[in-house]
Amino acid sequence: MILLDGKVASAAVKESIKKETTVLSKAYLRPPHLAAILVGNNGASETYVASKVKNCEEVGFLSSLIRFEADIAEDVLLNKIIELNNDASVDGILVQLPLPKHISEAKVIETINPAKDVDGFHPINAGKLVQGLPSFVPATPYGVMLLLEHYNISTKGKHAVVIGRSNIVGRPMSILLSSNLPYGNCTVTICHSHTPNLNEICLQADILVAALGKPGFVKQDMVKKGAVIIDVGITRVTDETAKKGFRIKGDVAFGEVSAKASAITPVPGGVGLMTIAGLLKNTLQAYKNSY
Ligand code: GUN
Repeated sequence: MILLDGKVASAAVKESIKKETTVLSKAYLRPPHLAAILVGNNGASETYVASKVKNCEEVGFLSSLIRFEADIAEDVLLNKIIELNNDASVDGILVQLPLPKHISEAKVIETINPAKDVDGFHPINAGKLVQGLPSFVPATPYGVMLLLEHYNISTKGKHAVVIGRSNIVGRPMSILLSSNLPYGNCTVTICHSHTPNLNEICLQADILVAALGKPGFVKQDMVKKGAVIIDVGITRVTDETAKKGFRIKGDVAFGEVSAKASAITPVPGGVGLMTIAGLLKNTLQAYKNSY
């Protein structure tokens, strides 16, 4: 069984980004710059954004963290995005999701200039992805593709099953895995909460991607022997014995499933780290595109 180690793979991606950034920052007289917007103080979002900012520093990017209270008016947030769109020193803009209920996520996403949409959530980038055109690919599915590439996981002719149909992970993941790409040449089935016979479908998967946000959902009896298991889940589960009062749990029951898998991602230490690598690659690309 191969452990698909996000620490190892993301370190390799970050090392190559860092090298390229050093050269380009000299040529263009400035480093790439990511602006991250955080609304409110959701604990998980705080952690993710802090990690994105820290990783920017590690590869030599500039980052700005812009914070707003949870009760910010929607138009104030939209105006900030427009200001960042017009700021030539900013290459990438991300607004951490979820947003408070009174703010339209769709409006926020559509206000970001697609050329700076390093999350790849804008309908223009989503549409380009569907058509196989160069675009910003959402960071988590992009990170999974980088992980498959790092571990040279063959996808040609394989059956991939994706559980989850979100715009952030499941849907773009299914598109990437079914594209004619070196590491995305699968036949893909996309499943969700209303899929009948889910266990039987999962049992047919050579590559199983769990992205439904239900801790420990994928059990041994849903997995074919020798399957490659990609666990995208990162749910905080209360645990009084843990220092922070919670533990991060994946969507896969790792212990029992790893006994059957040929390769599997751990949680934490798997896809989460690759998400950051995907975001950094997108930010570097946005910076290069601006010249
Ligand atoms: N919330 C959960 N995942 C993501 C992500 O990849 N980007 C942003 N902006 N918010 C998220």
